[in-house]
Amino acid sequence: MHYFNFKGNDLYCEDTPLRSLVEKWGTPLYLYSHRTLCRHFEVFDSAFESYSHLVCFSVKANSNLALLKIFITQGGGADVVSGGELFRVLKAGIDPKKVVYSGVGKTEEEIGFALEAGILMFNIESSEELKVINQQAKELDTKAPISIRVNPDIDPKTHPYISTGLKKNKFGIDLPRSLEEYRFARSLKHIEIIGVDCHIGSQITETGPFVEALRKVITLISELRQEGIAIQYLDLGGGLGITYAEEVPPHPNEYARAILSEIQGQALTLILEPGRVIVGNAGVLVTKVLYTKSTQEKNFVIVDAGMNDLIRPSLYNAYQEIVPIAKKTEERYTADIVGPICESGDFLARDRLLTKVQKGDFLAIMSAGAYGFAMSSNYNSRPRPAEVLVSGNDSFLIRQRESFEDLIRGETIPDFLSYSSTSRAR
Ligand code: LLP
Repeated sequence: MHYFNFKGNDLYCEDTPLRSLVEKWGTPLYLYSHRTLCRHFEVFDSAFESYSHLVCFSVKANSNLALLKIFITQGGGADVVSGGELFRVLKAGIDPKKVVYSGVGKTEEEIGFALEAGILMFNIESSEELKVINQQAKELDTKAPISIRVNPDIDPKTHPYISTGLKKNKFGIDLPRSLEEYRFARSLKHIEIIGVDCHIGSQITETGPFVEALRKVITLISELRQEGIAIQYLDLGGGLGITYAEEVPPHPNEYARAILSEIQGQALTLILEPGRVIVGNAGVLVTKVLYTKSTQEKNFVIVDAGMNDLIRPSLYNAYQEIVPIAKKTEERYTADIVGPICESGDFLARDRLLTKVQKGDFLAIMSAGAYGFAMSSNYNSRPRPAEVLVSGNDSFLIRQRESFEDLIRGETIPDFLSYSSTSRAR
């Protein structure tokens, strides 16, 4: 449940009309509801309260410092996949012992950084990575706490780009080979085995695939125990889906019940890495209608947010609900809602039945809190939007709108290019 609702004809975030927020902060604008963020974290966390657990928010979904701070304050940990994400969570004040680090391509520098920070564990994705982590830990005269990310070969029934637990995916170590890999890990002096990890994909809307993967992982844990390899942590990754359109994903309580019924009685600490389910419906992207036009084929609504601001529709053909922030008419028509980027793939919605809008109106693109700003870019040299956190009647700027100067930060023109054009043209 989220706190973006119509009161009369106006869309509100909590107690604040979006109209006043666009007047104050301009567009395109990412807006997050504080109350929704807190509620989503709390509902998810408390669903697991009967079992020892740690909710590690998946930073890739939304890495804004203010949001990270909210979850840290609520007792959350973090799932990071880069040195940059680790830097962010440390900046936000996290206890490093609540950080897990996944990803197939951790560099030596990133591994060193995480070892020095003293994170809870590395989720290992290959044999070669294991060797590098052992070596880095040796150089720092320490031991690296690890779990192996196993690939259980489960179909999560989601978009192919975001399914990760199939044999053909690049992630993890095949389940049949994982026992051998654990034996190898045990032979390394600077590795301390503490867990097993598994993440099968994202936007999963049923409990079945999670349970199927979990059963396979539990079998592995008992095999490991028989070999004297003690496992304390079971990291089940993230992946619980949300409603963008008609999906009816399980409530976190149902998801937790399905998982907990499989692991009752096991002396483990469960780690969960939710991203989308916490932040997805807690954020919207507000955009202004710049122009409307009709061609022989189609109606177009041209807005000031593009695929550089929200790439999900272009990249995954993802559906995001789009509503005017003020209801002015009942009249509807079918249109493509497109951005200013010079690509036909730059659309936010195609053939969408929409309340008729005109130049100067504002639209809210719903469910944009996860993988929205986090995947934004400066393509077409477009400064990225501002991010604002709303709490009740108040709103707080949590990331400034980028300026043109921001666009060229770090770029230089080498001296030799500054010769006159005639001297170079020879
Ligand atoms: N843990 C790991 C290891 C992951 O790779 C991911 C997401 C998560 C946790 C969090 O998954 P969530 O709970 O958010 O489903 N950009 C795509 C989604 C990519 C997900 C990548 N991994 C999208 O916009 O749909």
